[in-house]
Amino acid sequence: MFKLFTDCATRFIPEKSMKVLLGEAHEAMELLLSGKGKGADMRGWIDLPLYVDDVIKECNEIASSWAGKLDAVVVIGIGGSYLGAKCALKALSHTFSLGGMKPKPVIVFGGYSLSEDYMSDLLGYLKDKEFGVIVISKSGTTTEPAIAFRILKKVMLERFGPEVTRERIVAVTDGEKGALREMCKKYGYRSLAVPNAVGGRYSVLSSVGLLPIAMAGCDIRRFVEGAKDAMNVLLNDKSDENPVIQYAAIRNALYRQGKKIEVFVNYNPKLKYLGEWLKQLFAESEGKETKGLFPASLDLTTDLHSVGQYIQDGERTMFETAILAGSREVEVKIPEAEDNLDGLDYLKGRTLEEINSKAETGTRLAHVSGGVPNIYLKIDKVDEWNMGQLFYFFELSCAVSAYILGVNPFDQPGVDVYKNELYRLLGRPGYTD
Ligand code: PA5
Repeated sequence: MFKLFTDCATRFIPEKSMKVLLGEAHEAMELLLSGKGKGADMRGWIDLPLYVDDVIKECNEIASSWAGKLDAVVVIGIGGSYLGAKCALKALSHTFSLGGMKPKPVIVFGGYSLSEDYMSDLLGYLKDKEFGVIVISKSGTTTEPAIAFRILKKVMLERFGPEVTRERIVAVTDGEKGALREMCKKYGYRSLAVPNAVGGRYSVLSSVGLLPIAMAGCDIRRFVEGAKDAMNVLLNDKSDENPVIQYAAIRNALYRQGKKIEVFVNYNPKLKYLGEWLKQLFAESEGKETKGLFPASLDLTTDLHSVGQYIQDGERTMFETAILAGSREVEVKIPEAEDNLDGLDYLKGRTLEEINSKAETGTRLAHVSGGVPNIYLKIDKVDEWNMGQLFYFFELSCAVSAYILGVNPFDQPGVDVYKNELYRLLGRPGYTD
């Protein structure tokens, strides 16, 4: 199980406030589990790891039927229907892989922007490839993925004909309703249902995340097992030491002290998209009713040479949550050199992992001395098990935190405002006035 370290944050919080917040965190957890809190009908993700056995089998079966046959698979989706899979793939694949663990099919993403450049590049990339599409949209009506799907489907029909196109499309959508479900019925696309009680940003452990992650060649059973282990520990630990209780209490205590920004940091480029996933999870769950921490993310040590200046010396409105991961077993050491002109002889024979870890400790010391509280979480390596653990931990922490804040963690009324304005500007029937 991962470890959460809180000393460098709790030193900024008076003992009395911490006690109050720990109490509120326990109450929030109870409220969540009792089903009496706001948005309670969207809690299907809490015990999801117990119910995805069949989904795992089906995803693996689809993945192996496409493996080797197709050059590329386009995963279409936006927000919660894309970020979990993107994050897992980035974390688990070789850093220089084009997408996924295997040479074929390469996993590429679409439908998460409206950029014409992106789409024309994607179409160019697919031009001479045998490709399939996984289209993911719970509502089945979101503009960005719907447009991408229409464009790609047309290309597929022209190149492959109706029968092959049908075989090469899998939809992940609501079990009963929505435009995408209607298309599945009409054209016979294979489909997987998104559970009703699981919203987009809490869906990475459902078919939404599992199908693309399996398609990329990752071990989704191990991924779900990691989440299940976290679930068993975190739901049953009633003590103040429960990492969810600790983390939710600390971030709310800091918020009440005037901190406005939580900066998620990593020291491994593989975890870049974990920051993106976390930003969505927390911003969409907590940023409402004029409340909530603003989630930001940084990649270190890269950003220490840019935004690091602000973290150290800018407005004191933030705290850091670092996700630290051990490396794979392969060591990379600082080599001997003919001379010592670069002055690095003092590092000779030491591993990059050790130096990166010193950079992390040094950064923490510097930032804490500059008034930036620091929470950090350690996993021993980036693998399926640990990614499952992280996803579950942060989902549960987010819901508990949002309840402490007093908001509904499972709706997104602010996103609907944008969606409606776009519909109005584009002249969608029913939205024109
Ligand atoms: O978390 C959410 O609910 C959102 O980010 C959705 O995932 C996003 O808007 C995409 O929605 P849909 O899957 O309905 O296309």
